[in-house]
Amino acid sequence: MTSSTPDPTPTGAIPLIPAPDRASATHAVPEDTVVATLPSPAEDPHWYRTAVFYEVLTHAFMDSNHDGIGDFEGLRSKLDYLQWLGVDALWLPPFYPSPMADGGYDISDYTGIDERYGTMDDFRTLVADAHERGIRIVIDMVMNHTSDQHPWFQASRTDPSGPYGDFYVWRDRPSEYLDARVIFVDTEDSNWSWDEVRGQFFWHRFFSHQPDLNFENPAVREAVKNVLRFWADTGVDGFRLDAIPYLYEEDGTNCENLLPTHDFIAELRQMVDDEYPGTVLIAEANQPPHEVVAYFGTDAAPECHVCFHFPIMPKIFAALREETSKGVREVLAETPPLPKGGQWGTFLRNHDELTLEMVTEEERQKMYAWYAPEPRMRANVGIRRRLMPLLRGSRREVELAHALLLSFPGSPFLYYGDEIGMGDDIWLNDRDGVRTPMQWDDSPGAGYSTADPESFYLPLISSGMYRPTAVNVAEHRTRPTSMLNWLRSMLQIRRKYPVFGIGSLTLVATSDDAVLAFLRRDERQSVLCVNNLSTTSRSARLQLPGMAGWHLYDAASGNRFPDVREDETVDITLGRHGFYWLDVTFLDEEKDDEDQ
Ligand code: NOJ
Repeated sequence: MTSSTPDPTPTGAIPLIPAPDRASATHAVPEDTVVATLPSPAEDPHWYRTAVFYEVLTHAFMDSNHDGIGDFEGLRSKLDYLQWLGVDALWLPPFYPSPMADGGYDISDYTGIDERYGTMDDFRTLVADAHERGIRIVIDMVMNHTSDQHPWFQASRTDPSGPYGDFYVWRDRPSEYLDARVIFVDTEDSNWSWDEVRGQFFWHRFFSHQPDLNFENPAVREAVKNVLRFWADTGVDGFRLDAIPYLYEEDGTNCENLLPTHDFIAELRQMVDDEYPGTVLIAEANQPPHEVVAYFGTDAAPECHVCFHFPIMPKIFAALREETSKGVREVLAETPPLPKGGQWGTFLRNHDELTLEMVTEEERQKMYAWYAPEPRMRANVGIRRRLMPLLRGSRREVELAHALLLSFPGSPFLYYGDEIGMGDDIWLNDRDGVRTPMQWDDSPGAGYSTADPESFYLPLISSGMYRPTAVNVAEHRTRPTSMLNWLRSMLQIRRKYPVFGIGSLTLVATSDDAVLAFLRRDERQSVLCVNNLSTTSRSARLQLPGMAGWHLYDAASGNRFPDVREDETVDITLGRHGFYWLDVTFLDEEKDDEDQ
């Protein structure tokens, strides 16, 4: 405990998380480890704006100690692969001790590590080795709620007047905050649950085993800050802030995005800027664009560096079935400008259901009909399937979806296994069907583990075309035309075009609604992105005001395309689900000379 950071947390039997002693705090790694070669935050303060992120569940990736559960050592052994693939940062969902009733988002010890994944030393070594390869590490920070097994909750329920009595939101009657929606509609019918032990109701926005922390209590706020400090001291590069719209409650509101919630996020940002400069905060706020943008904060009170852009994702899937660019164009047009230094986080799939909370009821029903015809494919307000089976195994559709993801404004977040088109298992519970072990090769344990597959934390995918003998990294690596090699080459191209991360976006008018075209531009680069959303080949005329005579080169091959005509149009022909990224070159010198 430092004198500058007084511990306002109550004294009691359960040790609260102390503020780290900054004088002796180190980003300590075992002595024989070579430390970070990444540019410092001062050298590259905006790395997250051009980065490609990769979400990887520690337990799903690689098992190093043959117990059927992935671990840090296993993940570390695959860093070469991730570097080869070309990702810049990993997002690790929770790896803390947990009853695992919500995939680890039900934390029972904020400063521990689930011992099945390794030790604190293993974690530090992972961070250092990732840094050595130029890969950053972002971890999940679940501060809205804990598991009901967390000692704070156990103390709160048994000792209402004790130091933790006020750590959660307790009431005698479940009569407040009734305008707040229930998020996990499959399992919960209220945000209040009765606790037999304390004889009161407690508030929870997610599962009833996940009580919400009471942010009105200054001790809770300080405890949460100390958790961030604890992990920032391990050298991680950032935090994905889980479920942040729900920190505070206020009667008569929907209890989302409230002012005190924003104030607290701004306080956290101030803390990381002061104490851990360069550490990035990423907002998980599943909200419409105008609400999400508030999580960037203001110039005077900045909040997060990156905000996930939830609304754009379902529009990509809808566009592929409707074969029109209308929905995507609308959501791009509705997306507010990014504040200085801000970035969107974009994604196609992640460890959750493909959420349909941000679409209208009519759109939702269409999405269910297209993508989740069987009720078993749905979860809460969304679809629990992986990318390849969602897109009916169509390589062309998966490629187009990635082309959109990688060229839209934002930093893309890939999901482990999607690079090889892994399948899902809709017979597993909740969202487990999209969280099965990574498929490395065609051995009995899929190269994920040498343990008996019966002991794996979840079964391997066993269905026909997606089983590990058919879909695995080793096979993809040896086949030059594989999805994996294709995606890797796309990431290489994207790396040459920082404009995809930092440039502006201008929608381009086309003669065919099925052809989505837009320009990404900054002072150094311009790329014209043209995408055919339809299942048939198309030829469209693009209007490019002010660009008469400009040259177009295919970014993938370098091949020259016809110049933009004097009437400021160009015709582009694309095969079904085809796309081009066309490097736009301004007037050449010759032309400049002629003009003089
Ligand atoms: C958001 C996480 O992404 C999800 O997996 C989890 O179930 C909820 N937060 C509740 O913790």
